[in-house]
Amino acid sequence: MADATVAVIGGDGIGPEVTEQAVKALRAGAERAGLGLDLVEVDLGAQRYLATGEVLPDSVEEELRGVDAILLGAIGAPEVPPGVLERGLLLRLRFAFDQYVNLRPITLLPGVTSPVRDLDPTDCDLVVVRENTEGLYAGAGGASHRGSAAETAVETSINTRHGVERVARFAAQVAETRAGRLTLCHKTNVLTHAGDLWQRTTEAVAHEAGVALDYAHVDALCLHLVQDPGRFDVVVTDNLFGDIITDLGAAVQGGLGFAASGNLNPDRTAPSMFEPVHGSAPDLAGTGRASPVAAVLSAAMLLDHLGQPEAAGAVQRAAASVVELLGPDQPSTQALGDRIAEAVASG
Ligand code: NAD
Ligand code: IPM
Ligand code: MN
Repeated sequence: MADATVAVIGGDGIGPEVTEQAVKALRAGAERAGLGLDLVEVDLGAQRYLATGEVLPDSVEEELRGVDAILLGAIGAPEVPPGVLERGLLLRLRFAFDQYVNLRPITLLPGVTSPVRDLDPTDCDLVVVRENTEGLYAGAGGASHRGSAAETAVETSINTRHGVERVARFAAQVAETRAGRLTLCHKTNVLTHAGDLWQRTTEAVAHEAGVALDYAHVDALCLHLVQDPGRFDVVVTDNLFGDIITDLGAAVQGGLGFAASGNLNPDRTAPSMFEPVHGSAPDLAGTGRASPVAAVLSAAMLLDHLGQPEAAGAVQRAAASVVELLGPDQPSTQALGDRIAEAVASG
């Protein structure tokens, strides 16, 4: 019997292409660690939806609930109306499995050129802890009078003490293992209801954990993230701010091709899900030009979650070993994946 079962959802666009490379690295990492892995491919995404109308059948959700972890590529396609797959599949899984932390490291790997001039890797090493089940993503709100002059649309941001406290606790724990510096990112000067709850809650949590807490409004944080990313160690923020600042962070670390993430259920009451920060990149799909590094680094996070830090480190180092090849004349996604998998085995 395998030691762990991992569900693999390639998804749409470049999702299957980069996931194939992540799977090769994952297998090589598991082999290195003597970890028996059972990989189960799960067919979800635009093709299944367009062929059958199914986004996420209940039976598939239950099958996924039984695995140890999920590796996901990307979801979303131009042929499918916006939100159908993003909400119906990706967000549904994050919510159903109570993956309340979206952990997104922003690390400039040595050898990668950041668009931020002269940025040294030692000055770009932070993690964003994004709340992943509430905020404007919760789906609260509604619309009326659609199509008329009186048309009204309301999106409501949900912020609960329970939700804020648990993600703040997780962030404080991460800060304890790092430089011990936690930054709350919000917009307390305008969003006074939610901002007050976030501020008081994170202050209490940081105080209890003995972690230093500072604060940045989200607009100013965007400025600092580009001008001086070294000022941040661990940033905790709400769902939408976290989504936006981590694409900016991805740019700072050299591009979305390097940005990994884990949707974590820290209580382990359901599986966690690992995926690159990027989407399905329809502009790149099928060209063989997508970087597999973000997906491979997400697989490394998965191995770490399965209790295999040594294998996770080997996969990380292998991914880092190919970054100098990336650029206008880079090898194909597949060739990069092969080199990474070889480096995991030999490195
Ligand atoms: P995107 O992240 O797919 O692409 C943004 C830009 O980054 C594009 O120019 C793309 O070519 C580039 N890029 C992305 N991944 C890359 C990689 N691995 N290597 C090199 N370049 C890469 O964002 P988008 O175009 O706004 O969204 C496309 C679709 O993906 C939409 O349907 C969106 O809803 C969905 N999406 C899904 C996820 C997810 O599954 N987690 C995340 C973001 C967007
Ligand atoms: C991400 C994506 C998703 C999000 C979308 C596709 C639902 O942008 O993972 O960053 O907004 O969380
Ligand atoms: Mn995003």
